[in-house]
Amino acid sequence: MSGSAPGSTAKIVVTGRIPDSGLEILRAAGDVWAWTDDEPIPTDVRDAQLADADVAVTLLTDTVDDAFLAAAPELRMVANVAVGYNNVDVAACTARGVTVTNTPGVLTDATADLAMGLLLMVTRRLGEGERLIRSATPWKWGMFMMLGTGVQGRRLGIIGMGAIGEAMATRAAAFGMEIVYHNRSAVDAATEERLGASLVTLEELLSTSDVVSLNCPYSESTHHLIDAAALASMRSDAFLINTARGPIVDEAALVDALRNDTIAGAGLDVFENEPTVHPGLIELDNAVIVPHLGSATVETRGAMADLAANNVAAVLAGDAPLTAVN
Ligand code: GLV
Repeated sequence: MSGSAPGSTAKIVVTGRIPDSGLEILRAAGDVWAWTDDEPIPTDVRDAQLADADVAVTLLTDTVDDAFLAAAPELRMVANVAVGYNNVDVAACTARGVTVTNTPGVLTDATADLAMGLLLMVTRRLGEGERLIRSATPWKWGMFMMLGTGVQGRRLGIIGMGAIGEAMATRAAAFGMEIVYHNRSAVDAATEERLGASLVTLEELLSTSDVVSLNCPYSESTHHLIDAAALASMRSDAFLINTARGPIVDEAALVDALRNDTIAGAGLDVFENEPTVHPGLIELDNAVIVPHLGSATVETRGAMADLAANNVAAVLAGDAPLTAVN
């Protein structure tokens, strides 16, 4: 892609609020129109701005599909401020010559921290404990009160051993967990050795792990990867952690499995129909549920916005994008 024609300034449409540092980088690269409300941008407002946009900076709540692209005939680039890009029809973008970028790397630690936090919350029943005190229920220390499950020596099965899966493994190994993983290909031998991790089949991972952590991208092939059959193949004392994408899990089947003690508990950051959460999950004490906070630290969100903006600046200058998807 060549840079903007001399004398013309590229129009950059930012479809949702992003940190100021990212906006500053964008303002140095082109003419920025940014939606600055916390409410989602109305489609008619978005489409009016897209009509002459060269670049769209999008959030994971935007659906970049044929309708979006049709509203933006001049579009050259979509910079998604997220590592996951299942909200972007990449094939449709490629067919129209639209470059797509995402924000890998900068949110790895924050997301793995959150996944480890959920693992500890659900195995140690921390959500239940919080609710007990906040409900003003009388309590006193007891030898058998609210016993949880220790993680040391337990097996963590990681589905998706990319950067976030590996960072989760590093944390869990430091807590004394044994690591197995399922991935398209094995990670390098030095990483396996450092983590004490071994590649296993999905079936073995599900049937032998004390905790299963989902760290894979969402795609057609991972839609409902964790369905009723997968849940039934897990140990009845096992826990499921999902910080990836909601639709990887059949949420109704998960509610049944948690209700019937098919598995022991779940720690969830993502949901099948966000922001709606299955009412069954809200009722269940063995589900820890938080509202898609994986990358939600001040530092990480700033770094994500900066990386998305630097991708835009690179492309508008005629350089290769830093983190291209297509
Ligand atoms: C968050 O879920 C992301 O994909 O960045």
